[in-house]
Amino acid sequence: MKNFLLTGVFTLIFCLFYGFIISAQQQEKGKALTKDVSQIINRSCVACHSDKGNGMAKMKVNFDKWQSYSYEKQVKLAQKCYQEVSKGGMPPKGFIKSNPGAALSPEEIDIFRNW
Ligand code: HEC
Repeated sequence: MKNFLLTGVFTLIFCLFYGFIISAQQQEKGKALTKDVSQIINRSCVACHSDKGNGMAKMKVNFDKWQSYSYEKQVKLAQKCYQEVSKGGMPPKGFIKSNPGAALSPEEIDIFRNW
């Protein structure tokens, strides 16, 4: 009986530990706003894509709400971000005209590709 209990306890601990490792791995796979990506986003995107940004933009992507997006949504949006910045769709041309510093360099577009 004692052995049976002990085995049960060990199994429980093992399961908890295993679950913990799995969820940690999934978090690593998630699209966290890494330092280099968020530097660009803070400079060039949050003027529109944040809680204090504009309606259409924050409805599509709100970087203030990034943590609450599902893993799948983060992956999809990260791909969209790369598509937009690589074809010059984002930041919008008019925005770059009045904020020249918001333009992305080729190196920064690469950061989005590898994100
Ligand atoms: C001047 C405001 C503004 C800035 C700055 C801006 N965006 Fe946007 N963005 C918008 C608006 C408005 C929309 C929604 C309309 C549209 O899709 O064109 C949008 C849409 C998007 C979409 C969704 C596109 C789609 O088809 O679903 C993505 C992804 C995106 N922006 C990424 C970015 C990234 C990344 C940056 C920074 C490099 C950025 N945006 C900077 C205004 C902005």
